[in-house]
Amino acid sequence: MRSCASAVLSAAFSLSLGVLLVQPLPVRAVTSYANDFVDPTYVLAKDFSNVTAEAQATIVSWAQSLAREGPWSDSWPNCSSVGNTTALTDEEVWTTCPYETRDGQFNPDGRLVNDVGAFSDLADAVLYNALAWAIKGSGTYSGNVATFVKAWFLDADTAMNPNLAYAQMARGPDGQVGQHTGVLDLKCMAKLVSGVLILREGQAAEWTSDIDTQFSAWAANYTTWLTTASIALEEEAAENNHGTFYYNQLAALQVLVGDTAGAKATLEKYFTTQYMWQIDASGDQESLHKSQQAQTNPRPPTQTNAKIGAYIGYDAWNLTTSNGTTIKSALDYALTQGAGTETASELYPDVVAVGAAYGDAGGKYAAWMLANAKKAYPEDAQFFWNQPFSDSGLVKTGGSSSTGSSGSGNSVSGGADASSDNGAARGAWSAVAAMGAAVLVAAVL
Ligand SMILES: *[C@@H]1O[C@H](CO)[C@@H](O)[C@H](O)[C@H]1NC(C)=O
Ligand SMILES: *[C@@H]1O[C@H](CO)[C@@H](O)[C@H](O)[C@H]1NC(C)=O
Ligand SMILES: *[C@@H]1O[C@H](CO)[C@@H](O)[C@H](O)[C@H]1NC(C)=O
Ligand SMILES: *[C@@H]1O[C@H](CO)[C@@H](O)[C@H](O)[C@H]1NC(C)=O
Ligand SMILES: *[C@@H]1O[C@H](CO)[C@@H](O)[C@H](O)[C@H]1NC(C)=O
Ligand SMILES: *[C@@H]1O[C@H](CO)[C@@H](O)[C@H](O)[C@H]1NC(C)=O
Repeated sequence: MRSCASAVLSAAFSLSLGVLLVQPLPVRAVTSYANDFVDPTYVLAKDFSNVTAEAQATIVSWAQSLAREGPWSDSWPNCSSVGNTTALTDEEVWTTCPYETRDGQFNPDGRLVNDVGAFSDLADAVLYNALAWAIKGSGTYSGNVATFVKAWFLDADTAMNPNLAYAQMARGPDGQVGQHTGVLDLKCMAKLVSGVLILREGQAAEWTSDIDTQFSAWAANYTTWLTTASIALEEEAAENNHGTFYYNQLAALQVLVGDTAGAKATLEKYFTTQYMWQIDASGDQESLHKSQQAQTNPRPPTQTNAKIGAYIGYDAWNLTTSNGTTIKSALDYALTQGAGTETASELYPDVVAVGAAYGDAGGKYAAWMLANAKKAYPEDAQFFWNQPFSDSGLVKTGGSSSTGSSGSGNSVSGGADASSDNGAARGAWSAVAAMGAAVLVAAVL
């Protein structure tokens, strides 16, 4: 549970930096990627390339750090230390001042109760603990997932209601109701669902059929809200990152409840509507629907939609827009732009994912990662699931350097030594990556 004792600004950054600040540096800080979906089939096959050994160690370390923070549940504000900051009482502000929408900026009210940050931490904790269970085989990690899911979704005292009717509430004279932008607050459901699927399909003992049944019922109820409530449908229609993230959530939840046909239809809808006009002929996926000051790039959630599709037999990586461009075109364009409004680290998962999905025959993407992310890039967690991708010969396995060829197919799964080194000598760039992630989280809300 978090209180609102931290002021608005620090609340806005508490998601990623909170984890960073409580850890003794230089342990590699947890990076909260914009979103992702990790294919449970790949994880459970446990046929991991040797070059993922360091990424596996990072995942186990992140699972442990996040688990120390949980469980999370949605919470009420504790404003005892905030003090009076305006001549108006809060109640007067909430009921008399019209609220404006400023895309890309936080509604400060929403930060008094940092449920968005708590949910993002929860999603990361579920994903990394499920992966750590698959990598290490210890029930501690699957037990963490069960505890966290129960606290957020199932236990009567702490469970979230299965709707976002009040998310990103606009107060003011006509207010006291949620806005469609608040649907974005559960976008990381795609990460959480992939974690749950790993435990379910891997038959982790701690993920009991009782928890599975109850969580599926919660998800079915919420999915009904997500496909019928007026603000949810407004979010679905949004042409920018908001609409794209909506499809991440809905498709992932449909997969979770066993509605594969529904999930395919959901992805089909995205890839025949918003996607068709999101990427222009140059590959620019940002400009068409960009708001003034926000990074509202739908590139990361588009990749997540493609990853969910790949898992259920809907191949989206090669689908072309009305301009004949693809997901790869959007990444290639982004690489020509320099960091711009993004930090380079925000591109890392997208570069590795595109290299894994389309191949990296000329070594262009690996060279870019080496130049920008430097030598530590194969220890980034996402390097584990975005395979095959070259480690540029950086990973030391079994006392010998790997050749740099990707996807060797040799397994280090369950290796007792995979997490023995939690990165004490690493992570020079990881603080920067975490900052980038925090900025990204701030910007898309
Ligand atoms: C609220 O926060 C204050 C410190 O700011 C703390 O002393 C108090 O115990 C908190 N109240 C609750 C109910 O957590
Ligand atoms: C806050 O404002 C109220 C109403 O004006 C006042 O009664 C109270 O003493 C103020 N509290 C602080 C901590 O300044
Ligand atoms: C969905 O959840 C709400 C709130 O918990 C509950 O009132 C409603 O009966 C549920 N609907 C279904 C179909 O389970
Ligand atoms: C590219 O797509 C945009 C948005 O749909 C459209 O306005 C433009 O005409 C297209 N350009 C080409 C060359 O197809
Ligand atoms: C995309 O199309 C190319 C050429 O048809 C094919 O070789 C490749 O396997 C496809 N990629 C995916 C991810 O389906
Ligand atoms: C991969 O790991 C296996 C088993 O530990 C080892 O025998 C092999 O040499 C490793 N391959 C490389 C390229 O390091």
